[in-house]
Formats: sequence, C-alpha cells, structure tokens
Amino acid sequence: SIPTHTLNDGTTLPALGLGTWPLGDDEAQQAVLSALEAGYRLIDTATNYRNETGVGRAVASGVVPREEIVVTTKLPGRHHGYEETLASFEESRARLGLQYVDLYLIHWPLPRVDRYVDSWKAMIKLREDGLVRSIGVSNFTAGHIERLEKETGVLPSVNQIELHPFLPQEDLRVFHAGKGVLTESWSPLGRGTSLLQDPAVARIARAHGVTPGQVVLRWHTQLGAVPIPKSANPERQRQNLDVFGFELSEAEMTAVADRTHRRVGGDPEVHEEF
Ligand code: A2P
Repeated sequence: SIPTHTLNDGTTLPALGLGTWPLGDDEAQQAVLSALEAGYRLIDTATNYRNETGVGRAVASGVVPREEIVVTTKLPGRHHGYEETLASFEESRARLGLQYVDLYLIHWPLPRVDRYVDSWKAMIKLREDGLVRSIGVSNFTAGHIERLEKETGVLPSVNQIELHPFLPQEDLRVFHAGKGVLTESWSPLGRGTSLLQDPAVARIARAHGVTPGQVVLRWHTQLGAVPIPKSANPERQRQNLDVFGFELSEAEMTAVADRTHRRVGGDPEVHEEF
C-alpha cells in the first residue's frame, strides 16, 4: 500500500492519485478500474471533465471497498455562489452515484466573478452535513486562500495547482506549508513529452533503474506534493504508482527542476473556465 498524508481536518490522503482528464465516461470507467486494481486509492475528476458517471461506475464496481477510495470532484465556475454550489454538488453526487464525496474542490477562483467566498461557505456547509469529508480549492493563489481564511475562518485542506518541473511553485508551496494546506499537483508530468525526453531526467532515471516519468513523480512526492498523473494505460498506471522504492538526492532534485519556467494551463488570476 502507498503512503498517505494527514490533512488539516484529520482525514488521510494517498500520496499519489489518478487524474482522469480528458477521458470520456467509458474510458474513465476503464482507467479507474485498472487503477484500483493496480493499487490507486485516490481518484480525481471534476464536473467539467464530464466523466463523473464513468468514474462512479468504477468506484461502485466493488473491486475495492468504497470506503477505501478517496473520490475527488470539483465545482465548475458557472456554479459559483452559495445556493448554486449546493445544487451543483447534488448533481455531481447523483452522477457519481455516491452517498458522500471524499474531497470537493472549487475548480477555479474566477476572481473577476468574485463569488468564491460564497461558494466556500457552501462547501463548509456540505462538510458539516456529512456529504463531503474534506473541502479544498484548486488554482487558488496565496491571496485567494488568505481571503477565505479571513472571511470564514476555515482553511482549505488541499490546493490543487499546476505543478511540474517547468513550474515548481516554490512560493506557493512554502505558503501552503505554513498554513497546513496540502499541495496537489495537476499535470505533474508537464503534459508534453519534452520533459520525459530530457537528457538530465533520463540520466537520473538510468542511475536509479527507473523511467523518466517515475523520476518526475518521485520529485513531486519528495517535495511533499501529491501528484495525480493521468494515464489510461494500465502499464503506465502501474509504473506511475511505483515511485516509493527509491530516493532522489538533493542534487538530483535540483537538476529535475533546473529549467525555464512556463505554464501549460491557465493563470489563476485571469483564467475563466465556466
Ligand atoms: P497515457 O494515458 O497514454 O498514459 P499529465 O498528467 O502531466 O497531464 O500527463 C498525462 C499525459 O502523459 C497523458 O498523455 C499520458 O498518456 C502520458 N503519460 C502518463 N504517464 C506516463 C509515463 N509514465 N510515461 C510517459 N507518458 C505518460
């Protein structure tokens, strides 16, 4: 079994999970089933991925007891607001076919819309009502999180952000650590292939007898971040989970992230995804 983190609400989160974007329902169902069989216990979806039905079918399949699986989904931008969040959650829960969701995240802050504090109050209510075990955010800056804390007194358990060796997010990770917010990494492999073909990463991989993908995922876990690599391929799923049997040196950690910084996804201050 893979290591876990304890969140600031006392629940546990596996140290690595499966991403499901951009799989459709049937592909997602297959991918989650093979991932559960391979030992994954953290599954990440979102309303906007349009595959909650497929993910839910795999979770309900019984290959692994429901209570051993940490199911994550996310509130879309078009449903920001207190009542809207409660209604949107019910729709997600129905599509997933679950009694409760383990981790519910605000997908993007949409600062211009300026309703994420109301959404956050609804997330707090969902947790109080026992419909959600843990609540968190995604793509929030330190400023957005400070505002949640100031206006509600409740910090997120998780902030899921774009994080990979092209975007190491040092300042935000330090901020999270100071607040007890766990960092999750989306697009942990950098989405493209250039990182996995990089000579420095390849050299480190050879030195440990592992693959470039494993080096990058190990880099995340040694930072204390929880990567959620997407793979629909059972062999790569197994490979991606098998990163807890070797350790990168400090020099190797530095070499992995020694590259020009750039995003593959949206800038949280301006990105509007409804
Ligand atoms: P596939 O589903 O065919 O495995 P990210 O999570 O950073 O967005 O990256 C996901 C992409 O990387 C997918 O296209 C996935 O394709 C591919 N991928 C996942 N794991 C590996 C791996 N270990 N080696 C190479 N490519 C991978």
